Amino acid sequence: MALLLKNAHIVDPSVNLDGVADVAIEGDRITAVGENLAVEGAEVIDLSGKYLVPGLVDMHVHLRDPGYEHKGDIVSETRAAAKGGMTGVCSMPNTDPVTDNGVAVEYVKSVAAAKGHCRVYPSGAITKGLKGEIISEMGDMVAHGCVAFTDDGRGIQGAGMLRRAMDYGKMFGKVFMSHCQDEDLVGEGQINEGAVSTRLGLLGWPAEGEELQIQRDIMIARLTGAKLHIQHISTARGLEMVRAAKAEGLPVTCEATPHHLFLTEDAIDETYNTSLKVNPPLRTAADAEALREGVADGTVDAIVTDHAPHADWEKSREFELAPFGMIGIEGSLALVLTNLVKTGKITYQRMVELMSIAPRRILGVDEVKIEAGSLADITVFDPEIRWTIGEDGFESRAHNCGFTGTEVCGRATDVFVGGKATLRDGVVC
Ligand code: DOR
Ligand code: ZN
Repeated sequence: MALLLKNAHIVDPSVNLDGVADVAIEGDRITAVGENLAVEGAEVIDLSGKYLVPGLVDMHVHLRDPGYEHKGDIVSETRAAAKGGMTGVCSMPNTDPVTDNGVAVEYVKSVAAAKGHCRVYPSGAITKGLKGEIISEMGDMVAHGCVAFTDDGRGIQGAGMLRRAMDYGKMFGKVFMSHCQDEDLVGEGQINEGAVSTRLGLLGWPAEGEELQIQRDIMIARLTGAKLHIQHISTARGLEMVRAAKAEGLPVTCEATPHHLFLTEDAIDETYNTSLKVNPPLRTAADAEALREGVADGTVDAIVTDHAPHADWEKSREFELAPFGMIGIEGSLALVLTNLVKTGKITYQRMVELMSIAPRRILGVDEVKIEAGSLADITVFDPEIRWTIGEDGFESRAHNCGFTGTEVCGRATDVFVGGKATLRDGVVC
């Protein structure tokens, strides 16, 4: 049945829209955008007071499926994505078996298509088993729908290995996404190296452990001509390197997470809250401030969550034994609205670029525009809903959220993927 979404404030900078209008949908496409639309027989949904934007995409998400279903699976984590307002996610390959061949990509893609609550754009590993030793079956993975290459969870330790992978893999035209971590320098580092790590008696994970690989990967992108995307950037100097690479005209982009933007190492205290143990670690207030400036000035291209579900028993171990990562996909839109849009640091249009337009462009997946003919992937949110993260639980199988208890303003109410509702009135369908 046709759908008629009425009276929402539409924001889509790609077609210069910023005002109240109606959107008509038939099948998987938008058929009309304009004022006072009428479509015979359509289901009419009144969205007065709400915003309607091209569907949000989180390009850094761990679905944990196959192999770690005790943490989360494609169904539970795409439910979390829908709840957070996402129409699509890019899945990370650190599954078991690792997503490093066409069959593994096919598994993620087909299970997501059959049972998922959003689109899943699978990434594939750069090296077999994420071991950094042998190039993965890149062509096979691309043939099965892999949209990007990454060894996320680990940095590629050998510069020559990355060079060979980029030289070979660039023929597929996909972006290389780098988790930057020099393992020799970082060692067993638990949190940012500095006063807090010293006071808490935890081994430090120095900023340089990330920055060395950011600079190295930029240089190898220059050498090979491959497209490079720096994942979950966390330091001011690292961001400066990306800024310089962009000024040079290199095909380099980067992403930042809400936890690196809005939390700092100072949140970690004697309670040793393992939800705040993430990789790369929460950095200093100056780093977070620099990242927020980068978001505003365009150096940061995309906001992602690095949504990393872990089971309660895994996160309730001693800090050193707990795995790195926090969930975030259900709170990211609200955190961005609350901390960046409502404070006037960025506009709604910039938010749409960061959370919808740029992720699709970097991943090279279908564009979505609020105009006739476009795929009907749409996010609707109410900017005035006040809520507390975690207060009514999570759709995710996991609970390891570093923002639990944080009061925010703004929440997704309705999501449509290819014209089908995946969230209605805040309820996942
Ligand atoms: O904190 C993180 N958790 N960072 C990563 O790079 C990997 C992720 C995970 O897989 O848990
Ligand atoms: Zn990572």
